[in-house]
Amino acid sequence: MKRPVFAANWKMNHGPTEARAFLRTFLSRYKKRTDRTVIIIPPAISVTTVAAGLARRTDILLGVQNIHSQPKGAFTGEASAAMAFDAGARIALIGHSERRHVFGETDAATALKCRLALDNDLAPIVCVGETIDQRNAGSTEETILRQLRAALAPVSADEFSRILVAYEPVWAIGTGRNATPDDAAKEHAVLRAELGIRCGSTKVAAGIPILYGGSVNASNAAGLLAASGVDGLLVGGASLDATTWSDLVST
Ligand code: PGA
Repeated sequence: MKRPVFAANWKMNHGPTEARAFLRTFLSRYKKRTDRTVIIIPPAISVTTVAAGLARRTDILLGVQNIHSQPKGAFTGEASAAMAFDAGARIALIGHSERRHVFGETDAATALKCRLALDNDLAPIVCVGETIDQRNAGSTEETILRQLRAALAPVSADEFSRILVAYEPVWAIGTGRNATPDDAAKEHAVLRAELGIRCGSTKVAAGIPILYGGSVNASNAAGLLAASGVDGLLVGGASLDATTWSDLVST
């Protein structure tokens, strides 16, 4: 049994003041545990604030929601992988559904970002997921495998032990409608088999955390975590309240 991973994706919520208030409550409720990994992924503007707040809590990891696909340059409004590392992040979401569907992020961009994350000592969480139309058309697996293969194209076999994957069906994100544990188990198995083929080792693939995301809350978390091949949860809405989140990570 792997240590479950609980990742809080705050999206565009919690500026520095709210982030500090969140940490005050969360850190008083959640004491260090070695049987789980907790990751907080604030908006870029709050990363250094959260880094400072976690200075004594090295058990909790810090992530960024996005990095730019180029290492540096004239890209107003963007932040690079190297800057994210400098600010204290050790994890980067790559290809989150909102990046893909709201900001038009392509598979090719996810590959560049994945490479830059690894080159800058950020562990990528490669996010994949099908839309409701793709699901209804029976192309769930084709979609998530295409996204996975594209993002991992520039990753060498020996780097697979540094990555994480998140299966987040687009129709489940922020909708209150989550995949069933059986649905999640099925797609996680598909993803894990592909990871094994890509890196040439079922043992390495077995060790890659594959998180489920999409309308996870304190009531469905335990059922989803108990599903075969679900190694953790990537949580948006239910990670915003420090009390709810401390209950959820204690699942
Ligand atoms: P949600 O978001 O938990 O609010 O559905 C999950 C995510 O987008 O990562």
